Amino acid sequence: MPSPKDSWLFAFFVLAGLSLLSPAILSADAPCPKVVLPPLPYAQDALEPHISSATIGFHHGKHHAAYVTKANELMVAPRFEGKKPLDVMMIAAQDPALAGLFNNLAQAVNHEFFWQCLKPNGGGEPTGPLAEAIVKSFGSWAKCREELETAALGQFGSGWVWLVADGATLKVVKTGNAETPVTQGLKPLLTIDVWEHAYYLDYQNRRAAFVKAVLDHLINWEFVAANFARPGPYAPLEPPSEPKPASEP
Ligand SMILES: [Fe+2]
Repeated sequence: MPSPKDSWLFAFFVLAGLSLLSPAILSADAPCPKVVLPPLPYAQDALEPHISSATIGFHHGKHHAAYVTKANELMVAPRFEGKKPLDVMMIAAQDPALAGLFNNLAQAVNHEFFWQCLKPNGGGEPTGPLAEAIVKSFGSWAKCREELETAALGQFGSGWVWLVADGATLKVVKTGNAETPVTQGLKPLLTIDVWEHAYYLDYQNRRAAFVKAVLDHLINWEFVAANFARPGPYAPLEPPSEPKPASEP
């Protein structure tokens, strides 16, 4: 008959053993994909005076964060085990029953991409091969910019305006709410968030002024050019440091 002291010791060692094993058990039992709230690629006030620190604080710290939290809650399901967030987004886009998941997950993906499209002291005109492709598709950067501004103003209610690659052709498209051109087989190069939460504190109803300020002063053309140069589809949630296969000689 074990003594009470022996029983306590046994329980202690069992619990200690479980605590050591639990991370492995958890990771094996919970392989559902997750998205994270990435840190901003610049300081919260770095885009002033064009976008205020307060706007960025709410936009990133509250709106984007809420999409991430909700998407992760909704991705906990056996059917998503072992999948990547972008795979889940494409599945959810095809299933009206998963509209809530799609909306939150696509918004998490769209915002992660959007922050990288901006930088302090950006804007102006593209250069290099991207500029050449824009001229080939639109005639000039001025025409491309005009299409971006028209699409941004023409988007009724919340949404996004995008510069995308459709094969070798560049196009401007707009999407409503959380919609993304990725689900249409298009590759985003640049986006501007035209939800009111992106500009209302600074510009109120003047969406055109917000879009003009972004195009004039904030576009991160290096990021846009890198998206243009990157082979393959859009993959904003893939780690950029992931090793690439060796190229053929
Ligand atoms: Fe937003």
